[in-house]
Amino acid sequence: MSGLRIVSTGRYIPEKCITNDDMKRFVDTSDEWIRSRTGIVTRYHADGEKTYEMATKAAKKALEGAKISYDDISLCIVATVSGDYATPSVACMVQRELSLREDIPVFDINAACSGFIYALGVCDRMLDEGENALIIGCERLSKILDFTDRSTCVLFGDGAGAAVVKKEKNGIFYSLMGATGNKEALFVGGVNEEESYVHMNGAEVFRFATGAIEKGIKRILEKANMSEDDIDMFVCHQANARIISHVQRRMHLPKEKMFMNLQKYGNTSGASIPIALDELFEQKLVKEGMKIIAVGFGGGLTWGSCLMEL
Ligand code: UT7
Repeated sequence: MSGLRIVSTGRYIPEKCITNDDMKRFVDTSDEWIRSRTGIVTRYHADGEKTYEMATKAAKKALEGAKISYDDISLCIVATVSGDYATPSVACMVQRELSLREDIPVFDINAACSGFIYALGVCDRMLDEGENALIIGCERLSKILDFTDRSTCVLFGDGAGAAVVKKEKNGIFYSLMGATGNKEALFVGGVNEEESYVHMNGAEVFRFATGAIEKGIKRILEKANMSEDDIDMFVCHQANARIISHVQRRMHLPKEKMFMNLQKYGNTSGASIPIALDELFEQKLVKEGMKIIAVGFGGGLTWGSCLMEL
């Protein structure tokens, strides 16, 4: 059986750090409220940088670590809901910046915060054994936030994460994806400018998120015929510390296996899981041979989970 393996990762976080106190310039909020309701302490906002520029920087770092030629990339997918243009896609802009091959599929996936998991799942189905892909999650959410809406603007941040993955003969990789066709709970308008900001029913998304993570973990374990004890780390989409802690308690998972970095970056939507993976490797919290489960949930409402051996 062949499956995806992560060869290397990279991330790019913009320099402009916004503290919870900084958010008080925009809305009636407090550090205490944001920390206690979400766990978020800081987030970063792009300062004039475009989404594709952040994506390219993260991709370069991942490619550097992979020690392969750019010509060895057979597929490039970007997970994003905050691309710069309706067309070209962010992926095509990255292709242009990096001069990737012109005979490969290059496209964006819009599955909101589940986007990176969707990208991995699609990639596993598209790649032939021995082929490499460049998978990026990148968001410039600060341009689609309503800075008069305290219930959303404090939550999100900008950033990019990337991975070079390879379809390997003995790679262990399982993935699941789903969606519920819901527009009301989480909505960002496109061409209609009045509705082009993030609108969210926080409580409804919270309920969906906890259920989606639990379902995502249980079903992927069933699919792989493994148990929680076989897993070394759980990487959930980084939206709210209370969501992750809730699932950890309900499923009796060890706290130290639930990775969290949302305190630094806030919710970076499609970028949160690849940024988390890059930090996991950097902090040496995982090593080759370990198994991880990654779970995403978000607008759509979408969800996805995957189990892989590193
Ligand atoms: O990545 C996509 C997935 N998104 C998510 O997973 C988000 C899921 N939802 C959540 O994380 C939480 O529901 C939120 C963090 C968005 C909200 O937390 P909550 O505990 O559900 O708060 P709430 O919406 O019930 O609001 C409680 C109170 C309200 O005041 P009243 O009506 O009780 O007087 C809000 O107006 O908190 C108020 N509030 C704030 N106060 C200070 C809302 N936002 C803020 C704020 N600062 N930033």
